[in-house]
Amino acid sequence: MRLEGRIAVVTGAGLGIGKATALRFAEEGARLVLAERDDGRLTEVTELVRDLGAEALAVPCDVTDEASVTHLAQEAAKLGPVSILVNNVGGGRSGRITNLSVADWDHTMALSLRSMFLCTRAFVPAMQAQGYGRIVCLSSGARNGTVWNAFHTGASGYSTAKAGVTGFIRALAIELADDGITVNAVAPGPIDTELAGPYLRKMHEDGLEYSPIRMTPLHRLGTPREVADAVLFLASDEASYITGTTLDVTGGR
Ligand SMILES: NC(=O)c1ccc[n+]([C@@H]2O[C@H](COP(=O)([O-])OP(=O)(O)OC[C@H]3O[C@@H](n4cnc5c(N)ncnc54)[C@H](O)[C@@H]3O)[C@@H](O)[C@H]2O)c1
Repeated sequence: MRLEGRIAVVTGAGLGIGKATALRFAEEGARLVLAERDDGRLTEVTELVRDLGAEALAVPCDVTDEASVTHLAQEAAKLGPVSILVNNVGGGRSGRITNLSVADWDHTMALSLRSMFLCTRAFVPAMQAQGYGRIVCLSSGARNGTVWNAFHTGASGYSTAKAGVTGFIRALAIELADDGITVNAVAPGPIDTELAGPYLRKMHEDGLEYSPIRMTPLHRLGTPREVADAVLFLASDEASYITGTTLDVTGGR
């Protein structure tokens, strides 16, 4: 029970890595605030968390929207002081540079970076008041360029956004150190989530030059739970002397 009694917010908790993180945290005794845009997914993950015997507060929320995040923080405060924030929502639109619209670019930055800024700004005051906090942000191997995405589809927007996560956590780790708040990132490689998994496997099946399964030394996709385990570590007391770090969960790539 590594998170016993701690109140943890997980954004985008309805699917994939966010869902796996919420369930992993529930197993470790956390009390969960589940922030999710999709009502159906939110209902499902809330029930699964409660089935594990954990407390769950479901908050429908768009984490790219300032008013929605303010509402999320107000709702979460009803449960008690939040001490763990997982900024999981991220992603964006891929495309080669000459085909990327301004709207595509702005969407990627908002989904991956504005969401992270708004949620962190909303929950840091509660952590400062406790003199304790754990912030874990989802980065990606794409922060250095992911060869299969970059080569086959174009991914400059997404890679830019995930490189931005590095600057965000590095600067905030220093800014918030005296408040007892650690700020770290987990950078997944190709993960077998409900949405990304079939697309990543198809690249392999189609025999593409750079397929994630061929390019990754462990020669398989990672599971959402394997990523959640890394998030759990950084959110736990075991990671007390780790801040400003990005932990790669990429199968060795
Ligand atoms: N899946 C991968 O292979 C992979 C690899 C590297 C990094 N990542 C990163 O990990 C994180 C999670 O990825 P995933 O593949 O599990 O995501 P996903 O797209 O499968 O799920 C994201 C969840 O967030 C919700 N969501 C989306 N926008 C939202 C918003 N504005 N407000 C609230 N909820 C919203 C969705 O409804 C969905 O339930 C992302 O930051 C992603 O960039 C994923």
